[in-house]
Amino acid sequence: MNKVVVGAQWGDEGKAKITDLLAQDADLIIRYQGGCNAGHTVVAHNKTFKFHLIPSGILYKGKICFIGPGTVILPEYFEEEIKILIKDGIDVSGLKINPLASITMPYHTAIDGYSESTAQKGKIGTTKKGIGPTYTDKMARIGLKVQDLYSLDALSEKLDIILPLKNKILKEVYGLKTYTKEEIFSLCKKYADIFKPYVCFDWQKVLEDAKYTNKAVLFEGAQGVMLDIDYGTYPFVTSSNPIGGGAATGSGYGPIMIDEVIGVAKAYVTRVGEGPFVTELTDETGDKIREIGHEYGVTTGRPRRCGWFDAVTMKYAVLVGGLTSIALTKIDVFDEFDEIKVCTAYKDTRTGEIYTSYPTDVFIHKYLEPVYETFKGWKQDITAIKEYSKLPENTKKYLSRLEEFLEVPISIVSVGPDREQTIFKI
Ligand code: GDP
Ligand code: IMO
Ligand code: MG
Repeated sequence: MNKVVVGAQWGDEGKAKITDLLAQDADLIIRYQGGCNAGHTVVAHNKTFKFHLIPSGILYKGKICFIGPGTVILPEYFEEEIKILIKDGIDVSGLKINPLASITMPYHTAIDGYSESTAQKGKIGTTKKGIGPTYTDKMARIGLKVQDLYSLDALSEKLDIILPLKNKILKEVYGLKTYTKEEIFSLCKKYADIFKPYVCFDWQKVLEDAKYTNKAVLFEGAQGVMLDIDYGTYPFVTSSNPIGGGAATGSGYGPIMIDEVIGVAKAYVTRVGEGPFVTELTDETGDKIREIGHEYGVTTGRPRRCGWFDAVTMKYAVLVGGLTSIALTKIDVFDEFDEIKVCTAYKDTRTGEIYTSYPTDVFIHKYLEPVYETFKGWKQDITAIKEYSKLPENTKKYLSRLEEFLEVPISIVSVGPDREQTIFKI
């Protein structure tokens, strides 16, 4: 069975924990979109590992881990991440980069930083890793791909087209540093050396072999459905497609290779950066969730905005994300709560209109208030429970109601950060 792991909210749902678990049974793991904007945490053998671009499956020996064509790579950050993993004793010999992946150049990070620092209204709150500008150039057909680094004639031809335009924009629009062809060449030489041990030029053969020998493929998503460039809370989104469909365009395999799409969702919602968030709690309940759930960004250290579970966006995520089941994480964070709320509809404070489907025009979200269903807490430590049947009755009632509302099964329940703290429900 080939599975996709998709974030079903605004990122940081615990995808890496689920990817790491499922990677045990996979032969090939492919990260299909995003870049080092991601911050993925895996806790195994009492050790915490943090990943940004490198697939979370790398912790198992003998697996092939691809950085797919749909990703963008910031070379210096990649180099640093590899160094840390090697220092931690991780065997990275299974890591491969698809030569079609895009490269983040210094001018991309400069433009991202500039846009974020000068924007007054409409600031996105990006991770400043150059993600948006790199994808912009890819779509404008003026980006550089990893394969360009190993073909100097082609690189030279491309730079003759790209650089005059890029320099004009850098200078006249942004007032930022421009680049000579020699400077870019020397950067590219450095990047070629960084990537060399990992670039897989015969990736077609590796993917074909895996396909025809029925190897298990795990597709690893970053970010989440509500940050998707097409379906998320646009423009407060990232610049790629974290949805299940992204695995079909960003991995090298088509949709026919996908059997299951597992949407990872927290039992509450968090968001980093700007943008609407109807169930956000700016009171002490929000603070309590943040402190118990340790909700601080892995990549930027920013405190995450916290709120109650939003079943309206989640139902939307089931549809557009193509989810076949849900992995619900962090329910242990509610162990001490008297009651737990779930938003099942939005009410328009101007007209009284009730929305049970997600309204995609985010500029009306400031007029929406959540309509909640309230559940009794279980007031018990559930972090050591290993079987679904052993969960407290109130936990099971809560999970059943979520399944009923979302019309999709919850396949995994996560009760702590460790690999072991997982209940496979089906
Ligand atoms: P990702 O970006 O989706 O991979 O998630 P992050 O790593 O950014 O954030 C998830 C955080 O929650 C990490 O610190 C995980 O170790 C932690 N975590 C994952 N699942 C659980 C869980 O079920 N309970 C608790 N308490 N923590 C969890
Ligand atoms: P993981 O994979 C949470 C958010 C940023 C910002 C918006 C755009 O760990 O879930 P970008 O730098 O991508 O242009 O920023 O997207 N964002 C994330 N939020 N988790 C992530 O990754 C994120 N990656 C980007 O905060 O609001
Ligand atoms: Mg994260």
